[in-house]
Parts: sequence; C-alpha cells; structure tokens
Amino acid sequence: MKPIIAANWKMNFTIDESLNLIDEIIKKSPSNEAELIFFPNYISLRSVQQKLFDSAYKVGSQNVHHDESGAFTGEVSASMLSVLNLDYVIIGHSERRQYFYESDDQVNQKIKRALSVNIKPVVCIGETIDQRKSGKTIEVLTRQLNKAFEEIESFNANMILVAYEPVWAIGTGVSADKNQVLEAHALIKQTLASIFSENIPILYGGSVNASNAFELINLNNVDGFLIGGASLKSESFCQIIENVLVENN
Ligand code: PGA
Repeated sequence: MKPIIAANWKMNFTIDESLNLIDEIIKKSPSNEAELIFFPNYISLRSVQQKLFDSAYKVGSQNVHHDESGAFTGEVSASMLSVLNLDYVIIGHSERRQYFYESDDQVNQKIKRALSVNIKPVVCIGETIDQRKSGKTIEVLTRQLNKAFEEIESFNANMILVAYEPVWAIGTGVSADKNQVLEAHALIKQTLASIFSENIPILYGGSVNASNAFELINLNNVDGFLIGGASLKSESFCQIIENVLVENN
C-alpha cells in the first residue's frame, strides 16, 4: 500500500493561496508513490477539487454536518459535499471535539452521512494530556473507536481511515515518541480488527515534520500521516514526502 500523506490546512489560505500552494507542491513533488490528500477550507474546496480533477491527488473536506439538511446556520451537509466529487472528509478532529463540542455520537452520525454519499471518512481519535497522565489512554481510544463505528456495516471497511492524533501533540512541536505511537497504533489495530474484518489504514498526526517523518513512517501499523503545520509550506510538506518515500523504497 502507498503511504498516505494528508495535508490538513485548517483555517488557512484564500482560494488563490490554496491554488498557489498546490502548484508549488506539484512542481516539487510530482511523485505518485504516495497517496497525497489535500484538505482545504470550504471556500477553497471547489477550486482545489477542479484543479486536481482527474489527477492522482485526492481532495477532502475538513468537516461535515451530522444532519442531512435543515436549520443549521453556517453548516455544510454530506450531500452538498458529494456533488464536488470529494474523496475524503476529516471527522472528529480534536479541534472540532474541543472547540465545537463534538461528541462521539455526532462523530458516529457524521461517519454515516459521509459513507451514505461515498465519501471516505478519516476518523480522528486521540487522548488529551490529562487523560494520558491519568492512565486513561487505552480507555479513551477504545471508547472513541467503538462509539465512532457503532452500527456501521462491515462492508464499509474499505472506505474508512483512522488517524491517531494525541491532542497534546497537535501543533505543539512535540510529537508522540516511537513507543507511544507503536503502543497506540497496535491498540487501534486490535480494536478495529474486533469491529471490521478488513484492514483499515491508520495515520499518525501530531507535530509530524521533516525530521521525525523518517522514523515514524517505519513503525509498525503506521500507514501515513495527517499533517497540520508542516503542510502549510511546500518546502516542509515536500520534504516530509521525500523522507517518507526514501524509507519506503
Ligand atoms: P500538526 O496538526 O501537524 O500541526 O500538529 C495535525 C492535525 O491537527 O491534524
């Protein structure tokens, strides 16, 4: 399987800035040895999707609402996203859980919405620093996974990706260390195996950069990365891609 390298641009970039960054990345990293996924903001989504239409690069939304339609000012539904022919949607990112109070139940509903329109959910899970310090990491990750995939039929397994993103590692410059990643990914793998029969790719996210990508991509059960800060500049993003591919050759 190709390593998956996903760029979560969060609330950054105008449409033109998004398109320019795509241009720079394509120029520097034309390789299709990795599966590259771009997650621009809603405003840039259509332009980025049109630019990359029919290419090997994939595009996804950073969010989707859990209801089908209705009086939810400012929200975007799965069916609206589906007409853009998107490949992926991020669901349950810790910033959504933390700042927008998204619950495990809503995460579950969002996954169902995405699957109903054939968009692949990238389901984010991860513990806070307090949960880790009080020995609750296993409990939290297991709960988030079991709730996220409640009542989701196993034939959907080939549509799903999971991202392990410890909350304390996101945007802090301190990634989880080798053993923490190994331990969490093994647990996630095992838990997913008890839910689905198919293998589900597991990404790591949280302060991935050009210096740690090399080590992290080689760990057992690490199938790729979800990258925030280091995906905002073509130099750092392309350097990560390069380091990942060196290790995979
Ligand atoms: P970071 O963000 O790479 O800036 O830590 C990762 C993410 O939030 O997905």
